[in-house]
Amino acid sequence: MNLTIQKCRAAAVGLAMLMTAGLSASAFAQAAANADEPVRSRAESGATKPCVECHEGFYGIAKTKHGVKGDARTPAATGKSITGDPADAMCGTCHGDLTEHNKRPRTAGLVPVTFGKKSPAEPQNAACLNCHESGARIHWQGSKHEQTKQSCASCHRVHASKDPVMVSETQASVCFECHQDRRAELQRMSTHPTKTGFFACSSCHAPHGSTTRASLQKNSVNETCYTCHAQLRGPFLWEHRSAQDDCTNCHNPHGTNNAPMLKTRMPYLCQQCHQDSLNHSNTAFGRQSLPGGATAGNAQRVVGNSCVNCHMKVHGSNHPSGARLQR
Ligand code: HEC
Ligand code: HEC
Ligand code: HEC
Ligand code: HEC
Ligand code: HEC
Ligand code: HEC
Ligand code: HEC
Ligand code: HEC
Ligand code: HEC
Ligand code: HEC
Repeated sequence: MNLTIQKCRAAAVGLAMLMTAGLSASAFAQAAANADEPVRSRAESGATKPCVECHEGFYGIAKTKHGVKGDARTPAATGKSITGDPADAMCGTCHGDLTEHNKRPRTAGLVPVTFGKKSPAEPQNAACLNCHESGARIHWQGSKHEQTKQSCASCHRVHASKDPVMVSETQASVCFECHQDRRAELQRMSTHPTKTGFFACSSCHAPHGSTTRASLQKNSVNETCYTCHAQLRGPFLWEHRSAQDDCTNCHNPHGTNNAPMLKTRMPYLCQQCHQDSLNHSNTAFGRQSLPGGATAGNAQRVVGNSCVNCHMKVHGSNHPSGARLQR
């Protein structure tokens, strides 16, 4: 529709020029047919060409939240068109003043803000932070991504109808572009459920930064885990101090080859902290060295040399006699 209006306007300009030059009606028809063509003469005459004629693919942005005219905060609502085509109004809000570029589109370097890896991050991010500094971005300054000069556009695709980083099924693939080691961990045997789309990196991480180590969503590792594993929060009658301290003492939440996401095999996992204990030896993990000696019951319990065969409530116990985390 806008394009039609524009063509009419161009035709009207052409008509005025033709009339002063006293050309024939057929010459006018020819000029009207060429209305989209000669960029240079148009620029010379001071007329402008709607951006859509050269950048059609980028108009999908009108269908995203940035294109909502009814929302007074969006680029669509606040921008002003320099071409006369209302659909172009929003472009300058992020890309800067495009008057010169529109006059001489084929001259490089006339677009004030370009996005992507080849451009410096600061001006790109400033354009976005104009509107997005508050909310989840309050810890952006000083975050690892800011310090290492990542741009908003290194994760976000604002021209796409669906920004992949905002969709939990596709988010991880965006992160993997830079975090290859995480991709490897997520392919291990024991991981969080990745296939369902339930899992997103941002279930645990605040991508724009936070005050916690590794930019976690909550104030600590454990608080982050409790958002879904609330039953492990306690308080317990018998606590296991290491579990209350930090779940990553034993688990790697990205994935391991020891189910369930244990950093090390049994019994070594436990023996990192528990050397020979008062009541039974850990190093020589044999039936004899266990309380009760080589009884039939104990034979069951040394399967896999797993300490949790007996100390089942490794995260803490509420049983009156669960002192050793055994029930
Ligand atoms: C006659 C065609 C034409 C018109 C009209 C035009 N451009 Fe361009 N634009 C180009 C060309 C060619 C480039 C350079 C592409 C390149 O460097 O690869 C460009 C580059 C750009 C870039 C930078 C791309 C980058 O490298 O990041 C932006 C943004 C842009 N144009 C937006 C606009 C907007 C907004 C308008 C309307 C105000 C507009 N253009 C009008 C042809 C045009
Ligand atoms: C003129 C202000 C303005 C500018 C500049 C701006 N945005 Fe937005 N943005 C908005 C508004 C308003 C919304 C809608 C918020 C809402 O619905 O709560 C939005 C929404 C978003 C969303 C959420 C989209 C969704 O589907 O939920 C993302 C992501 C986003 N902006 C990223 C960016 C990035 C990246 C930049 C810079 C390239 C940027 N914005 C520049 C105003 C702006
Ligand atoms: C490391 C990747 C990454 C970078 C860099 C990044 N974002 Fe995001 N952003 C995300 C993810 C993932 C989400 C969706 C999950 C969420 O809401 O936390 C998101 C959500 C958003 C949203 C919509 C939800 C909200 O919080 O309002 C906006 C707006 C946004 N980002 C703006 C920005 C701006 C502005 C920048 C640059 C200063 C930026 N982002 C940089 C990954 C990133
Ligand atoms: C909310 C900010 C924002 C608005 C508004 C916006 N852009 Fe963009 N533009 C970007 C970002 C960010 C990129 C990088 C690619 C992406 O996010 O999809 C980009 C990329 C581009 C590119 C390609 C650059 C390249 O080298 O790949 C062109 C051309 C472009 N935009 C033109 C336009 C036009 C035309 C309009 C108006 C219809 C417009 N943009 C409106 C933020 C914006
Ligand atoms: C364009 C590259 C890039 C992308 C894309 C990217 N990151 Fe990063 N990220 C980095 C760099 C560089 C660092 C700092 C060095 C490091 O820790 O590896 C970092 C650090 C981190 C950290 C550690 C933060 C801290 O405070 O210690 C987390 C967590 C993180 N990224 C998560 C994500 C998530 C989640 C995504 C996807 C939503 C993502 N990253 C996408 C480049 C990227
Ligand atoms: C279940 C929660 C959870 C999920 C989901 C998750 N992480 Fe993490 N991530 C953590 C925790 C906890 C740490 C801190 C580990 C530590 O410090 O020992 C961490 C650390 C990191 C670090 C920093 C490592 C370092 O050495 O500083 C990066 C980068 C990272 N995660 C990227 C990702 C990416 C990318 C995804 C998505 C593919 C993701 N994470 C998904 C919990 C999670
Ligand atoms: C967004 C929700 C969510 C968060 C946050 C979360 N988890 Fe999970 N976790 C799950 C779901 C869902 C499962 C799968 C449960 C199932 O299969 O029954 C799971 C399973 C597990 C398992 C068992 C895996 C197995 O193979 O049985 C461990 C261990 C685990 N999570 C540890 C953690 C740790 C440690 C944290 C914090 C760093 C954490 N989780 C944070 C949702 C979450
Ligand atoms: C001392 C080591 C250790 C610590 C610390 C630890 N876990 Fe575990 N976790 C284990 C072991 C061992 C298993 C396997 C238990 C079994 O096989 O009976 C397990 C199993 C799990 C499971 C799957 C089965 C279940 O019990 O639901 C989840 C989920 C889990 N842990 C989450 C967490 C969370 C969240 C934290 C932090 C609050 C945490 N773990 C801290 C050792 C630990
Ligand atoms: C990161 C170090 C660490 C790891 C790993 C660890 N623990 Fe512990 N554990 C502790 C601490 C600290 C205490 C509390 C000791 C105290 O209060 O004297 C404790 C206490 C215990 C107790 C109770 C002792 C008592 O006197 O009541 C048992 C049983 C136990 N751990 C078993 C395990 C098992 C089984 C594993 C392996 C799944 C394990 N621990 C892994 C640090 C650890
Ligand atoms: C056959 C069952 C069994 C197995 C297997 C087992 N324990 Fe125990 N453990 C016990 C019993 C019973 C006690 C309590 C002894 C008492 O109170 O007199 C105990 C006590 C403990 C204590 C408390 C401190 C102490 O010495 O009283 C720790 C710590 C401990 N075990 C760690 C481990 C570790 C680490 C492993 C794996 C290497 C392990 N246990 C394997 C049965 C077992």
